[in-house]
Amino acid sequence: MAAKITIVGAGNVGATTAHWSAALELGDVVLIDIIEGMPQGKALDLAESAPIAGFDGLLTGTNDYADTAGSDVVVVTAGIPRKPGMSRDDLLQTNAKIVGTVVSNIVQHSPDCHLIIVSNPLDAMVHVAKQVSGFPKQRIMGMAGVLDSARFRYFIARELEVSVEDVHGFVLGGHGDTMVPVPRYATVTGIPITQLMSAETIDRLVQRTRDGGAEIVNFLKQGSAFYAPGASITQMVEAIVKDKKRLLPAAAYLEGEYGLSGVYIGVPILLGAGGVEKIIEVELTDDEKAALHRSAAAVEELLQALPAV
Ligand code: NAI
Ligand code: 2OP
Repeated sequence: MAAKITIVGAGNVGATTAHWSAALELGDVVLIDIIEGMPQGKALDLAESAPIAGFDGLLTGTNDYADTAGSDVVVVTAGIPRKPGMSRDDLLQTNAKIVGTVVSNIVQHSPDCHLIIVSNPLDAMVHVAKQVSGFPKQRIMGMAGVLDSARFRYFIARELEVSVEDVHGFVLGGHGDTMVPVPRYATVTGIPITQLMSAETIDRLVQRTRDGGAEIVNFLKQGSAFYAPGASITQMVEAIVKDKKRLLPAAAYLEGEYGLSGVYIGVPILLGAGGVEKIIEVELTDDEKAALHRSAAAVEELLQALPAV
């Protein structure tokens, strides 16, 4: 039977995720939003591209949570995006209320689903979702690390003029200014980038990665990135519905790993049909560990400012 994938929020990120997921035939896709007619229109338009693009699978748009019942994976993109001059953290109060309401509706209809939270500020929103759902930590995660790492990998590939396919690497920490790209673990076909470019160049690419979201916001002016976020979410959905056992960076709930507890933060995870099947603890230098702890402290500060949901 086809997997059922619900995407809450049929805006830029939600609709792009629906597009990638449908094209890859990951399952039947339900788009839900509060705006009447909009998810229906986008789902039908996308479905009508199927004979050209060549994919099967149902696409439905709705404003009614009953249509999301029995979902295997639910992606939450509902909320407001950033505008120029806004940080992800400026979205805290509004999006916490939206994510709380959405998650409470979702768990009523899909009590066994995997939840992938995307709304910003990401790490705090996953925390809200965990509180509201009461789901085990394996079934709630946040998408940010795949996106931040893709940006880092892309910048490395362009700098060295090599294929993106050969560049690997990951970004740890919160999805904000304190995120922690780890150049020591970034490689081109196994060759550490520290052997391929100068320390100054690496510093520049690390900073561009940290500013990656703002760089797009400053161009778009009306909202934030959605193509790369949609592709990143889809990679996580695919890992779950196909039980691929991907090793990907994502916001996961830590209980002692990396010396941190009771906080969602970006770390490498093993992602498969069981959700977050394992948290991978890589060796970090003292400086890298300190940067991860600084990032966790910034997330914890946000948690203090969370409204009651
Ligand atoms: P958007 O404005 O295009 O779409 C958001 C949609 O959510 C709108 O269609 C809106 O009607 C809907 N919505 C609002 N309240 C709702 C509710 N209670 N129930 C259902 N739907 C509701 O925004 P976009 O660009 O799609 O971004 C969505 C969120 O994702 C933002 O918070 C943004 O900051 C975040 N984001 C996070 C990324 C990450 O790496 N974690 C990457 C990109 C965006
Ligand atoms: C991004 O990094 C806005 O969080 C979003 O593009």
